[in-house]
Amino acid sequence: MLCALACITLTTATADEGMWLPNRIKERIKEMRKMGFKLKADDIYSDNKASLKDAVVQFGGGCTGEFISSEGLLLTNHHCGYGSIQMLSSVEHDYLTDGYWAKSRAEELHVPGLTVSLLVKMEDVTDRLAAGETAKGIMEKETEGNGYTAEIKPIYYGNQQMLYVYRTYRDVRLVGTPPSSIGKFGGDTDNWVWPRHTGDFSIFRVYANAENEPADYSENNVPYRPARHFEVSTKGIDEGDFTMIYGFPGNTQEYVTADAVDYVAKMANPMKIALRTIRLDIISEAQAKDVATRIAYAAKHANIANAWKKWQGESLGLERLGTAEKKRAYEAEFAAWAADKPQYANLLDSMHAAYSEVIPHYFERELFNESIMGMEFFNYAYWLHLGQMRGEKLTADKQAEAREKYLTDHNVAIDRAISRRMLAEYVARMPKENLPAQLAEALAKHGSAEAVVDNIFDNTLLFTEYPLTKEKIAADPMVQFVGWFADALLKNRDYAYRNLSNVPAIEKWYRTYMKALREFDNERAFYPDANFTLRVAYGTVTGYENADGEYHTHLTTIDGIIAKDNPNIYDYDIPQSLRDTYKSKDYGRWAITQNGKKSVPVCFLASNHTSGGNSGSPVLNGKGELIGINFDRTWRSTMSDIEFDPTICRNISVDIRYVLFVIDRIGGAGYLIEEMDVK
Ligand code: ARG
Ligand code: GLU
Repeated sequence: MLCALACITLTTATADEGMWLPNRIKERIKEMRKMGFKLKADDIYSDNKASLKDAVVQFGGGCTGEFISSEGLLLTNHHCGYGSIQMLSSVEHDYLTDGYWAKSRAEELHVPGLTVSLLVKMEDVTDRLAAGETAKGIMEKETEGNGYTAEIKPIYYGNQQMLYVYRTYRDVRLVGTPPSSIGKFGGDTDNWVWPRHTGDFSIFRVYANAENEPADYSENNVPYRPARHFEVSTKGIDEGDFTMIYGFPGNTQEYVTADAVDYVAKMANPMKIALRTIRLDIISEAQAKDVATRIAYAAKHANIANAWKKWQGESLGLERLGTAEKKRAYEAEFAAWAADKPQYANLLDSMHAAYSEVIPHYFERELFNESIMGMEFFNYAYWLHLGQMRGEKLTADKQAEAREKYLTDHNVAIDRAISRRMLAEYVARMPKENLPAQLAEALAKHGSAEAVVDNIFDNTLLFTEYPLTKEKIAADPMVQFVGWFADALLKNRDYAYRNLSNVPAIEKWYRTYMKALREFDNERAFYPDANFTLRVAYGTVTGYENADGEYHTHLTTIDGIIAKDNPNIYDYDIPQSLRDTYKSKDYGRWAITQNGKKSVPVCFLASNHTSGGNSGSPVLNGKGELIGINFDRTWRSTMSDIEFDPTICRNISVDIRYVLFVIDRIGGAGYLIEEMDVK
């Protein structure tokens, strides 16, 4: 590959690491422009005029989306729209399998409960708080009489406080989605993997009242008119081109000490991976035997497998980079520097001691979550247990609703098999003296964790009788089992922080440590860790050297889809229409020439620093035009939540030209494209 060497040099020469605050992007703009960005800082974010930020939304709580028309048309990932598409589907209208394309506004389908949030403004309120204003007062002032919501979130472990004001729209409708065989092509097999061929997009529209304001669903609502929407570029991309990602990354911990890295790589990830391997093996085996089970457990399997695969890549990456050792060396330098500064001299020792104290508790919480809470019946039994504790009347209707919520697509034999193994793992990994007393008694009585679970499953009425009387609920062994863990559940709450390092007993030291780091390492550009607020990442379109002599190029095409296509492999079975289009080569205006052949671009790689939550984020070129939708990272990049390595960390996007191709050629919904500004 001609470019390999040059491009790797190029990416290491520029700072692709970082998730920057939009309102401070001025500090990065010189470098961005050097890399090919053509706009100004206030085109990205402005308090006074429409800017690109007005075209970006937080979608449904955990993802990002972007406006692509003046009439509220919104793009996000297929996997972000998945829950909505599933909710609107039925046996007669299976939009997951068949896709859906609204032929008119009247056919756009309201999704109950789905919301999108637009950032109205962000502001550093550290000084206002220091001057005596209260957080409550600030937020009230910002939201008085305008229907906005506000939150104040700490950054740099509380050294600064950021105010975010949002406007949340609650009439959001499904406009179009490809079939899962395109939107989820490659499934869990290709998840976190390059080369990738997933058409991971879905289309929604935001509706507002006549004043363009948020409103409950109503037939009288009209398409929302965003202050800005993205123009779409079909000019294509080349290796080395500037890219920017504007979205809502969720959780990184770039500044933690070696103790925290060791905890993730050596304690938490191995335990979580091992427990999920057990669950996945049990589910996969049952799925292979029975089609109905494969369908019923598809979403659960995907959910469990997503983080399972990510953690493996993360642990491997941390080890390969030697992150903990590097951090230790860095901390030694810091300690030498801090030795004669009384305010910092003992800091690392205090942090180390705090970790020693908190880690066993935090680990117990994570173990409890992965094992006991990994039992499928747990949530339903917990709901009954809580209702009973609170003396609520668990009517037949309420029980029916809870059964629907917790026991849909549930298979008792799978649940039992998983529960036997999960309780055994929990018991084996917990310090004996910390086991709940009733569990210890049951273990003594029945002889093993497996026998305890069998006894519960043999005698429960939860799956066979409904509605259950108050007495039967109280006496049920599954409900009682949940009761054994009352203390564990309380402890669970006490340690329910984003990361180990955010547990207050540890976090309090980080506030000083971050401050000290910025004095100690004063050349370094510190960006705040991701916390589900709007950020800018920028980098270049680029492949990477995956192994010695093995360069992965930046672009995949339809030819790669056809090469993977196999009607006998569920993840690789494409719709017949895609096969036909490939055969006819009737690609219309979406055709490109690749290696001398007529083809269609599908996915591309770039070096932007992204994380979970960036799914659905707009990928922009130097002019701020939309060139793709972000949806994943490569497996070997996933340690970037803790250490970003510019030579190997790559985000994966679906090329906007493939999105348009699918809308036009597969969906037959070309009229949607007319609504966009396609360049
Ligand atoms: N890895 C991507 C993310 O972290 C996509 C997940 C959805 N896809 C799947 N096959 N499970 O969310
Ligand atoms: N798929 C992830 C998400 O849903 C984004 C991939 C990543 O973690 O970078 O947010």
